[in-house]
Amino acid sequence: MSARRSPRRPTASPAAPAASNPNPVRPKVTCADLVTAKRAGKRIVMVTAYDHPFARLADAAGVDVLLVGDSLGMVVLGHDSTLPVTMADMLHHARAVARARPRALVVADLPFMSFQVSPSQAVRNAGRLLQQGGVEAVKLEGGTRVLPMIEAIVRADIPVMGHLGLTPQSVHRFGGYRVQGRGPAAGKLLLQEARALEAAGCFALVLEAIPAPLAAKSTAALAIPTIGIGAGADCDGQVLVLHDLLGVNADFAPRFVRRFGEIGRQTREAAAAFAAAVRSGAFPANEHTYR
Ligand code: KIV
Repeated sequence: MSARRSPRRPTASPAAPAASNPNPVRPKVTCADLVTAKRAGKRIVMVTAYDHPFARLADAAGVDVLLVGDSLGMVVLGHDSTLPVTMADMLHHARAVARARPRALVVADLPFMSFQVSPSQAVRNAGRLLQQGGVEAVKLEGGTRVLPMIEAIVRADIPVMGHLGLTPQSVHRFGGYRVQGRGPAAGKLLLQEARALEAAGCFALVLEAIPAPLAAKSTAALAIPTIGIGAGADCDGQVLVLHDLLGVNADFAPRFVRRFGEIGRQTREAAAAFAAAVRSGAFPANEHTYR
């Protein structure tokens, strides 16, 4: 059992003295480190993670942030949108990721209807993600409407990542998954909301599916880092759904995704090879058999 467990990673900040930090080369990433990275012009790398093995693999690859996204609903649970995802789903998967004890900062989404009702509901559920889910920060979607929730969560000492642009929980208001912030009025509103989220205390901001010039303008206007997905190259960092960049579902090929792997094809081929070997009697061979 314990052979599969990763060793406990240090959680000291980069500034901690070497004596108290057994792994000074790869210290734990903190929210403050992301702001420092922006100032230093270092690009931030975030990927989604929904389970223990992929959290370990992505962390070993050196990503900065693991996002337990509510994309979980579509990517892993087979729903058509993120709306059915519950706090119970998020806690279940957040725990699996947190158990990997990653060096990366672990952020979890507040799912639909877990924060919209009131600031106190938002604080309670954000607290559950930290206390019961083991994550270090929460992300929530929306602009002006959710400022009271963000302010309340920040007051409870829980770090918040904002999310503007194509916010998938608003899919029905948008009438589909469409690029947001197009045109001067929409662009001005997004920029205003980005500034308001920073003022409310967000430590970082996801910009999803907006025109690249608007993302660049927002990035330049903010002291906190922007992390883009379908928002061009001028954000302070980039995020992709891990399954998309791995090519798990080759049929899903939107413009903003680049496939860095072909895990879907390889999985199909490996499963087919296993089936063929079993049916032909080639597996298990002598070397797989206890005598
Ligand atoms: O849920 C998610 O995966 C996200 C990212 C795409 C930013 O919110």
